[in-house]
Amino acid sequence: MLQETTIFDSLLGKLTGENVVRSSRVLGELSGVFLNEEERSLMDPEQMVYEVQMHDSCGEVEGGLFFGVSHVLPGKVGNEYFMTKGHYHQKRNCAEYYWGISGDGFLLLMDESRECRAEKVFPGSLHFIAGHTAHRLVNTGETRLVVGACWPSDAGHDYSTIQKEGFSMRVVDQDGKPTLVPQFAPK
Ligand code: F6R
Ligand code: ZN
Repeated sequence: MLQETTIFDSLLGKLTGENVVRSSRVLGELSGVFLNEEERSLMDPEQMVYEVQMHDSCGEVEGGLFFGVSHVLPGKVGNEYFMTKGHYHQKRNCAEYYWGISGDGFLLLMDESRECRAEKVFPGSLHFIAGHTAHRLVNTGETRLVVGACWPSDAGHDYSTIQKEGFSMRVVDQDGKPTLVPQFAPK
């Protein structure tokens, strides 16, 4: 039997065909993500911030892999660039690879002692995200930031820790330049 093919357009970072699942996040569902909540509440709640296209051919089984592409749109809430929610993996020891496809931005990486660093993301950049490391993409450019990803299919996502504690750094526009600023943990 001839199977439908899945196509990954490596220039556009577009994934189509069999077993491709798409999901997106709009501003209205990103409460508590950006520093300036008031500014966010004044913006269009239907404004898309990012979209993920994921190839799921095995389900969340041990030993499986997922392949995905994240498209983070250009934009800002106040002076803070559009970004993903960010997460630890539910299975903390699961690692992940990211690679830059198009656009410009940063990958924020934070370990469990809240030590945070940023890696520049650009077409061709490769990023190994070790286990026990929270990760978030930030689009500092004027076009979509498109990033490929591959991770263990049983890794899971822990969003609640980041929702409660945030990252210890934010990326903001200061005088037209992306700048990392410290963010203290909520009490
Ligand atoms: C999967 C992974 C990416 C993100 C995507 C959206 O483990 O890291 O596919 O899921 O960039 O970001 P989040 O999941 O933080 O909303
Ligand atoms: Zn991940």
